[in-house]
Amino acid sequence: MLNFRINKIILAKKLLSQLNKKPHEFGVRSELFSNIRRGRTLVEFSSPNIAKKFHAGHLRSTIIGNFISNLKEALGNDVIRVNYLGDWGMQFGLLGVGFQRFGSQEKLKENALQHLFDVYVQVNKEAEGDEGVQEAARVFFRKLEEGDDHALLLWKQFREITVEEYKRVYKRLGVHFDLYSGESFHQRQTQHVLQKLREQDLLKTTEKGTGVVDLSPAGDMSSYSTVLRSDGTSLYITRDIAAAIDRKEKNNFDEMIYVVRVNFPYFVYGQIVEGGHCMSFIVCSSCRHVPFGLVQGMSTRHGEVVFLEDILDEARNRMLRNMSHSRTTKDLENPEYTAEKVGVSALIIQDFKGPITSDYKFDWKRVLQAQGDTGVFLQYTHARLCSLLRMHGDSASEAEFDPALLQEDRSIFILQHLLRYDEVLYRCTQELQPRHLVNFLMTLRLRLFAGACSVLANGMTILGITPTEKM
Ligand code: ARG
Repeated sequence: MLNFRINKIILAKKLLSQLNKKPHEFGVRSELFSNIRRGRTLVEFSSPNIAKKFHAGHLRSTIIGNFISNLKEALGNDVIRVNYLGDWGMQFGLLGVGFQRFGSQEKLKENALQHLFDVYVQVNKEAEGDEGVQEAARVFFRKLEEGDDHALLLWKQFREITVEEYKRVYKRLGVHFDLYSGESFHQRQTQHVLQKLREQDLLKTTEKGTGVVDLSPAGDMSSYSTVLRSDGTSLYITRDIAAAIDRKEKNNFDEMIYVVRVNFPYFVYGQIVEGGHCMSFIVCSSCRHVPFGLVQGMSTRHGEVVFLEDILDEARNRMLRNMSHSRTTKDLENPEYTAEKVGVSALIIQDFKGPITSDYKFDWKRVLQAQGDTGVFLQYTHARLCSLLRMHGDSASEAEFDPALLQEDRSIFILQHLLRYDEVLYRCTQELQPRHLVNFLMTLRLRLFAGACSVLANGMTILGITPTEKM
């Protein structure tokens, strides 16, 4: 018994001094990570399409990719965050024609994303029954492919203005990218891909004249991927392969992670690498696909989600409304800021609670609940602890603190729990799943309260006070 006590005290002393001296290194400098290679990791995530919706799937990719990047960075990796925009293809023929017909530079400056989206929706409608519009779009896209100055200038403007807007909105989410790449970057490299495929004898020509890669393990073409149309043009997947090769050549990553939804139909990783046939030049073994499930029913007051900003506004406004009922809100310097940060954390926790491969149904009320396993309550716990520190922080210096006072089992549980932080991070890096960290933090929160509560009650009782459980 005596021995056990002493160990507990040593444990507490060691842990608390570590936490005091280098709080940022806690857990992430653990021996557990000594065998993990700290190389360069390229993470591709978010990847929305210009002039189209930013839907719940893009949000999911964004927060998961950000989590993986943060985690890798905390563990000492050199991380490159890449956004692979949908910025090329026939839809830019349509968008170009649409803009010439009913676009406005003024509206573009006022609200770029909305305007491009509106133009795109309208031109699609018109193209439905109008061969003329379709032909004009084909002509415009051909001009783009041929490098026509005028067409390219307009396309470039759409792209630049979209990226600027995205940067601003991602910032609200606390997300940034090192590279805004996209399909357009790799259009010209598709010949290079075909050449490499030929060199390795992987490109087969079908009776229809299309170029395909056999993906079947038996080599009997029972599954294959088309990389070249019969008219000689390339496909989405050809650009995807080009992008993988280019990233390897330019960034020389040790590992590449794709955060792309489950069953994304035209995806290089799913088709080429997992399909059984690994094209040696892409260094498949260093690539990893992190697939995620569907989010159903995410909508805002405008209806279905169209822009990322709408989701953020909705989260902030709902949170502001909830906070207006709370007594402490009036002390906040910037309630809008707080509401936004808490709203976003609620979205993140809701998404990360379960396995990311699972689908789930989105529900604002449940997401923003103040109690239970929600981001709101996690933030609440942190803010309360900060407030305690603000009030009593000065008197909590290490020198005065006697760990021998921590005899209570519940207090020891907190310490033991804290010590598991590195294991939890380790598990997250192995599986690239955030839920272990979410569970850990939720339990820590409960342990902290339970520990503090019982010490409080004991002390009060000694003073002769009967602790009330409700008031
Ligand atoms: N832009 C695509 C979409 O919105 C996602 C891109 C996935 N990444 C890739 N390398 N293909 O659905």
